[in-house]
Amino acid sequence: MSVNSVNPATNSTNEYYLTRQSQMESNVRSYPRKLPLAIARAQGCWVTDVEGTQYLDCLAGAGTLALGHNHPAVIQSIQDTLASGLPLHTLDLTTPLKDAFTEALLSFLPGGKEEYCLQFCGPSGADATEAAIKLAKTYTGRSSVISFSGGYHGMTHGSLAMTGNLSAKNSVNNLMPGVQFMPYPHEYRCPLGLGGEAGVDALTYYFENFIEDVESGVTKPAAVILEAIQGEGGVVTAPVKWLQKIREVTERHNIVLILDEVQAGFGRSGKMFAFEHADIEPDVVVMSKAVGGGLPLAVLGIKRKFDAWQPAGHTGTFRGNQLAMGTGLVVLDTIKNENLAQNAQERGEFLQAELKKLANEFPCIGNVRGRGLMIGVEIVDERQSADRIGSLPADAQLAAAIQTACFNNKLLLEKGGRNGSVIRLLCPLIITQDECVQVIERFKKSVAEALKAVRG
Ligand SMILES: Cc1ncc(COP(=O)(O)O)c(C=O)c1O
Repeated sequence: MSVNSVNPATNSTNEYYLTRQSQMESNVRSYPRKLPLAIARAQGCWVTDVEGTQYLDCLAGAGTLALGHNHPAVIQSIQDTLASGLPLHTLDLTTPLKDAFTEALLSFLPGGKEEYCLQFCGPSGADATEAAIKLAKTYTGRSSVISFSGGYHGMTHGSLAMTGNLSAKNSVNNLMPGVQFMPYPHEYRCPLGLGGEAGVDALTYYFENFIEDVESGVTKPAAVILEAIQGEGGVVTAPVKWLQKIREVTERHNIVLILDEVQAGFGRSGKMFAFEHADIEPDVVVMSKAVGGGLPLAVLGIKRKFDAWQPAGHTGTFRGNQLAMGTGLVVLDTIKNENLAQNAQERGEFLQAELKKLANEFPCIGNVRGRGLMIGVEIVDERQSADRIGSLPADAQLAAAIQTACFNNKLLLEKGGRNGSVIRLLCPLIITQDECVQVIERFKKSVAEALKAVRG
């Protein structure tokens, strides 16, 4: 059977494929439950289902598709790689294409190839975070890791152990031991109940004090791992001074600072990497999603001093995906040459401003936040009383209804954050102003409809 012979079934409907999917695939399926469609084709920011309906895609492969779907340069790159006669994958053997991709990727890291080297991992963000932790343990000879509430680092035993969300953890015993969680600043839900600058200052002080306190009860960790903007955790941006303090303290104690840029990296935040907003240099940078231009790839950027691996200290069969390195190269080039980080910044500012206007109209929008094209809209129940810092209780039921209404209004987006009460926008970086206007129109209509459906 060839791809061309897989024609959509006669009179095919979304329901037809979703029913078959539910019969043939495990109960673990997640997205089809919230976005019940079968995709026939996609282009740019648009996805078309098997019934011919078009959707505006602000999920974009969970932030993977920096250039949107099937960008001509990406498709051309795949065709060129195939025509070149290169093998499809090469373990970790090199090729001229890999060499060019490696050099290009290194040039985006602070200090470039003088400062960093790369490690190609198995092709998932989770494998790369696993590798980063193993490296930090190897380098320091220590055993534990500090991670942050609300953080997301993947679904394998080690990466899930470092992830905040409890729903996937509750049913799996014996995750990686030695993970110490600390509170992450949150402008709307300050974990200390202080809010504002006072909350950030207290958390900044707390981190330093905790690491230096000889009675903290926690031995020096091998690593601190964090996202400069938490994605799955509900789009929570780390304050600059908090990040800078973490950098200063980890450096002082020779603790490996790992920045997980799997979601926020590659222009999405308005800068190439989200850590650049704080002007810090991580010891290890975790990269996946956009780095492969839509194909599976995961890479660590390692400050040379920390490259403590023995040969084959972390392997994996699929570390040499040539198609992904080709598409990754094109995506890196396009982000740079077309200044897509700037586009993300400008379109993001417009979207946030419009969403804030909607918050005035719909008090169930409790908070709009994010950077660039990583935007979160927290849905609350404004009929309840606010807590001591003025934040309203989350309304997960309404958030779910808004996501469903958006789907019905042909807008694909995801939820995240505590109890799934944050609507998340992860639009492709190439999104146009006109498409942003359409996002707002569809979102506004959906909020009104969901409110009516849930609250009458
Ligand atoms: C910040 C972050 N780290 C790690 C991962 C895990 O990546 P993967 O799903 O490719 O394993 C994700 C996935 O969403 C992520 O957002």
